[in-house]
Amino acid sequence: MIDPAFNLLLPHIQGAPPQSLWLADENLLGAQLAPRSNIRMIANRLDLVQAARARGWQADWSDFDLSAIPAGSIARVIYRVSKEKPLVHHNINQALRVLRTGGELMLSGDKGEGIKGYLERTRTLFAGQGDFEKASANCWLGVFTRPEQPGLTLDDKNYAQLREACADTQFQYWSKPGVFGWDKIDKGSAFLIEHLDTFVTELPAPPARILDLGCGYGYLSLQAARLGAPVTATDNNAAAIAACERNFAAHGIRGEVIPASCGDGIDGPFELILCNPPFHAGFSVEDDLTERFLSAAARLLARNGIAAFVVNRQIMLERRAASRFARIQTLAENRSFKLVLLAGAKTGA
Ligand SMILES: C[S@@+](CC[C@H](N)C(=O)[O-])C[C@H]1O[C@@H](n2cnc3c(N)ncnc32)[C@H](O)[C@@H]1O
Repeated sequence: MIDPAFNLLLPHIQGAPPQSLWLADENLLGAQLAPRSNIRMIANRLDLVQAARARGWQADWSDFDLSAIPAGSIARVIYRVSKEKPLVHHNINQALRVLRTGGELMLSGDKGEGIKGYLERTRTLFAGQGDFEKASANCWLGVFTRPEQPGLTLDDKNYAQLREACADTQFQYWSKPGVFGWDKIDKGSAFLIEHLDTFVTELPAPPARILDLGCGYGYLSLQAARLGAPVTATDNNAAAIAACERNFAAHGIRGEVIPASCGDGIDGPFELILCNPPFHAGFSVEDDLTERFLSAAARLLARNGIAAFVVNRQIMLERRAASRFARIQTLAENRSFKLVLLAGAKTGA
C-alpha cells in the first residue's frame, strides 16, 4: 500500500540524527524500510513491531507510552498522524516533552485526516517555531523546532487513561481512545452475542475453552464468560490489550489476555472461537488479514468446535473460508451484518 503522506517523511527518516524517534502508527510500509541504528521506533501494533524487529529495527510495542524516555533527550521525532484525534494530540504532546530544545518534530498527514488543523495547533504549541506546506495533492508536511517556552499542550482527552467508557445491563466496560470503537458496544459484536446462546447448543458439550480473536476491550469475552469456560482474549493493539486486561480484572473473568498478531503463538484447541475481525472490503492488505484470521481459526479450533465470525454483509467470508472449513453456514443476517459459523477445520488448511 502506498501512503503518500508517509512518503513525505522518508527523507527525514533517512537523514535522521542520532537519538531520533519514529512514532509509527499503522504505517504498513514502515516495516519494509532498511533499519537505522539512530532511530528508535514505537508502534502500538504488535505486527508492525515484530516485522520491524525482524528487519533489524530497534522497535518497542506500547500504547505510545513515552514516559520512560527522559524529557529533552530526543533530537528528532518523526510522525505520520494517526486516525484518532486524541492519539494524535497525545503523540504531539509527548513529542514536545521528549524533544530537546532545538530538536525537530516532522509531522505529515492527509487533508481528509485534518492534517492542516494538526499542523496549525502544533505550530502554536511550538510557539510559532516551524512551518508547514502542502507537499502534494492532498498531503501536508510540517517541520517544527522545540522552543524553550512552548504553548499550552493539546487536548488529548486524557488519552493514556483507562476509564469506564460504556455499559450495558451486565457490565461497565473499561476502555480508552486508541481501542477500536472504544466508547461504544459495536453493533456487529452485539449481533453475534444476540445469537450466542442459540449457536452454542450445536456444540456436543459446553465449551472447555473459549477464544476471542481480535478482542478489543473485551466485549465478546465478557459476554461469553457466562458459558462457564475460561476465555483467552487476544489482540495486536497495545491499547486494546490494556483495556481488556482491566475488564478481565474488574469483572473477575477467568482466562488470559495475550498480545499476538492474528493469534500467532497461541495454543489451541478451543471449542468456541468468537471473532469480529478487522476486515474491510476492497483492500489487498486486508485480504491478507482475512486469510490470517481464518487460518488462525482453523488451526486453533477443536475438532468438534465452532467458530463464529460476524462481518459486514458485503464481505465474502464464506467464499474465503471454503478452503479451510468443511461446514460454513450463514446463521443470521440483518441490514448490516452477517454471522457466519465455521466448523470442521480441514487439516493442513
Ligand atoms: C472489529 S474490532 C473488534 C473488537 C472487539 N472484538 C469488539 O467486539 O469490540 C477488530 C479487532 O481486531 C484487532 N486487530 C487488528 N489487526 C489485528 C491483528 N493483526 N492481530 C490481532 N488483532 C488484530 C483490532 O485491534 C480490533 O481490536
